[in-house]
Amino acid sequence: MSSEEAKRESRNYFRNWISIAGKIFSIICFVIIVCLFLLDFFLPQKNPYLGILAYMVVPGFLVVSLLLIPVGALIERARSRKSGYIPKFPIIDFNNPLHQKWAYTTWAVVTIFLLFSAIGIYKAYDFTESNTFCGRICHTVMEPEYTAYHQSSHARVNCTHCHVGSGAEWYVRSKLTGAYQVYSVLAKAYSRPIATPVHSLRPAQDTCEQCHWPQKFFGSIEQDHDYFLPDETNTEWKTRMLMSIGGGSASGGKKEGIHWHVSPESKIYYVATDKKRQVIPWIRKVGKDGKEEVFVEKGSGYTAGKPPQGEMRLMDCMDCHNRPSHSFRDPSKIVNEAMASGAIDKTLPSIKREAVKALTGKYTTHEDAAEKIPELLKAFYRKKYPEVWARQQDAIEKAAQAVIGIYKVNFFPTMNVSWKEYPNNIGHLIFPGCFRCHDGNHESPMGRKISNECTQCHTIISQGAPGALETQVDGLAFKHPDPAVGDAWKEMQCNECHTGDIE
Ligand code: HEC
Ligand code: HEC
Ligand code: HEC
Ligand code: HEC
Ligand code: HEC
Ligand code: HEC
Repeated sequence: MSSEEAKRESRNYFRNWISIAGKIFSIICFVIIVCLFLLDFFLPQKNPYLGILAYMVVPGFLVVSLLLIPVGALIERARSRKSGYIPKFPIIDFNNPLHQKWAYTTWAVVTIFLLFSAIGIYKAYDFTESNTFCGRICHTVMEPEYTAYHQSSHARVNCTHCHVGSGAEWYVRSKLTGAYQVYSVLAKAYSRPIATPVHSLRPAQDTCEQCHWPQKFFGSIEQDHDYFLPDETNTEWKTRMLMSIGGGSASGGKKEGIHWHVSPESKIYYVATDKKRQVIPWIRKVGKDGKEEVFVEKGSGYTAGKPPQGEMRLMDCMDCHNRPSHSFRDPSKIVNEAMASGAIDKTLPSIKREAVKALTGKYTTHEDAAEKIPELLKAFYRKKYPEVWARQQDAIEKAAQAVIGIYKVNFFPTMNVSWKEYPNNIGHLIFPGCFRCHDGNHESPMGRKISNECTQCHTIISQGAPGALETQVDGLAFKHPDPAVGDAWKEMQCNECHTGDIE
C-alpha cells in the first residue's frame, strides 16, 4: 500500500452530516426509550400508547438512526472514490489506531444494541400479547368486549389465553390476522358489531381445556333465579335449580350429564344452516365404540345420509359457552338481578317494566343515555305516581343511576352492540341455545329423539313466590311464573315468547 493510499484509508469517513445526524438521533432515541421504559415500569396504570411508543415506534426510529451512521460513511467513501484511487473494499488494518478505534466502537455499539434488542423484542412480544394491547389500542372497536370481559369470571385470564393459546404457530397466525385487523381499524373497514362466530378461534382443547378439563366436572351446581314480572307490583318469583353438569367420564358407573358432549368418550358433529349457528337440522353422535347415530330435524328435508352443505363442526366448549367472557346481558334478566340485590328499589311501582324500557330506548352514546335515562324515569313517576315521586325521590334517583350503570356495561350504541346481536347458547329462555338440538323434534332413522325432558338437564328444587315457596329435593314440575301463560310453554319453545325485552 502506498503512503498516499494509507493516508486515504485513514480518513474518517464517519465525519459527514448523515452519520453525525444518525449518531445524534440514536442517542436521543436511546434516551427516550430508557425514559419510556422506566415510565412503563413504574406507572401503576398501563397506558397502551406508552407501550406502542416504547416498544415499537421509538425502537423503529432507533434502528433507522443507527443504520444512518454506516450509510453516511459508505456514501462519503463512495464520494472519495470518485475523486481519487481508493480500492473497492476498505483495507482494514488493526495496526492503524483509527481502525482500532472503529473496531472497538462498533463492537461496543453492536453488543449494547443486541442486549437491548433482546430485552426490547421480549417486551414487544409481551406487550402485543397483553390485555392492554388487545383491549385498548382500538378503543371504540374493542370497548364492548373489553368492558364485558372485566365483568366476567375471566377478568383475570388474559385475552390471549382464549384467543391465541401457546405455541409459535398460533402466535404467528394471530399476528397475521392482527395485521389485517389493524388495517381494518385504520381504514374503518370493520363491521359494527364485529361479526360472530369467530372462525379463527382456536379449538377449545388448546385453550379452555388448559384450565378446565372435561374429566373434572361432576355432580350438579346450584343456580338461583329471582324474577319480577313487568306488572305494577313487580310480582316476585323465585326458582332454585340444580344443573346436572355431570362427569365427563362414566367410569365408575356414574350418571353422565351436560358435559357428556365433550367427554373423551363421545363426539358430536353438526351442520348449521345459518351464519350464527342457531339453526341445526343435522347432528351425528359417535359413541366410544365408534357407533354412529344421526339425528335429523323433522320437516327439514335432510336425511341421515344427506347432510346440509356447510361446515361439519365437532362440538366443543364454545358451542355452548360461546360468551364465556363477553356476555352482553339481556335487560329483563339484569334488571331482575339489580332488583334482587337492592340496587333498584323493588317497592317502586312498575319499576321492572320502566327500567327495562329505559334500557331499550334509542341513545346515540353512553353520555346521551346517562342524560336521558333519569329524565325518562323521573317523568314517569312525576306523571303517573305523584305521591311516590314525593315520598321516594331518592329511591328513584338511585334506580336511575343503577340503570345507567347497567347500560354502560351491556349496551354500546357506537358499535351497535347489545344482547340481541350475540345469541348466548347456554340455556333456552331467550335464544334457542340447547333447544337447537334438544327441541324434541330431532329424530334418528330408528325413531329415537334427542330428549327435551325438562329434568334431563336440571332439577327444580324450589319455586314460587317468596313466602309461598314449594320445595322438593327430588324435583318439582316446572310452574310458569305468569299464571296467564298457563301451560302454553308445553306446546311452544320459551324463546318464541321471551326475547329479553318485555312485550
Ligand atoms: C375465557 C376466554 C376468553 C377471554 C379471556 C377473552 N375472550 Fe374474546 N372471545 C372468546 C370467545 C369464545 C369468543 C367467540 C364468540 C363467538 O364466536 O360467538 C370471543 C370473541 C371475541 C371478539 C369478537 C366479538 C364478540 O363479542 O364475540 C372480540 C373482539 C374479543 N373476543 C376480544 C377479546 C379481548 C380484547 C379480550 C381481552 C380483554 C378477550 N376477548 C378475552 C373468549 C374469550
Ligand atoms: C387461564 C385459565 C382459564 C382459561 C384458559 C379459561 N378459563 Fe374459564 N375460568 C377460569 C377461572 C379462574 C374461572 C373462575 C372460577 C371461579 O370463579 O371459581 C373460570 C370460570 C369459568 C366458568 C364458570 C363461570 C361462568 O362465567 O359461568 C365457565 C363456564 C368457564 N370458565 C368457561 C371457559 C371457557 C368456555 C373457556 C375457553 C373459551 C375458558 N373458560 C378458558 C380460568 C380459565
Ligand atoms: C352442551 C353444552 C356444554 C358444553 C359443550 C360445555 N359446557 Fe360447560 N357448562 C354447560 C352448562 C349448561 C353449565 C352450567 C352452568 C350454566 O348454566 O351456566 C356449564 C358449566 C360449566 C362450568 C362451571 C362449573 C362450575 O362448577 O361452576 C365450567 C368451568 C364449564 N362449564 C366449562 C366448560 C368447558 C371447559 C367445556 C369444554 C371442555 C364445556 N364447559 C363444555 C354447558 C356446556
Ligand atoms: C349440536 C346439538 C346439541 C346441542 C346444541 C346440545 N346438545 Fe345435549 N345432546 C345432544 C345429543 C346428540 C345428545 C345425545 C342424545 C341421545 O343419545 O339420546 C345429547 C345429550 C345430552 C344430555 C344427556 C347426556 C347423557 O348423560 O347421556 C344432556 C344432559 C344434554 N345433552 C344437555 C344439553 C344442554 C344443557 C345443552 C345446552 C347448554 C345441550 N345439551 C346442547 C346434542 C346437543
Ligand atoms: C337440554 C337441556 C335442557 C332442557 C331439556 C331444559 N332445560 Fe331449562 N335450562 C337449561 C340450561 C342449561 C339452563 C341454564 C341457563 C343459564 O345458565 O342461564 C336452563 C335454565 C332454565 C330456567 C331458568 C331460566 C333463566 O334464564 O332464568 C328455567 C325456568 C328452565 N330452564 C326451565 C325449563 C323447562 C320448564 C324445561 C322443559 C320444558 C327445560 N328447562 C328444559 C337446560 C335445559
Ligand atoms: C306463550 C308465551 C310464553 C311461553 C311459551 C313462555 N313464556 Fe315465560 N313468560 C311469558 C310472559 C307473557 C311472561 C310475563 C311477562 C314477561 O316477563 O315478559 C313470562 C314470564 C316468565 C318468567 C318470569 C319473568 C322474567 O323475569 O323472566 C320466567 C322465569 C319464564 N317466563 C320462564 C319461561 C320458561 C322457562 C319457558 C319455557 C319452558 C317460558 N317461560 C315459556 C310468556 C311465555
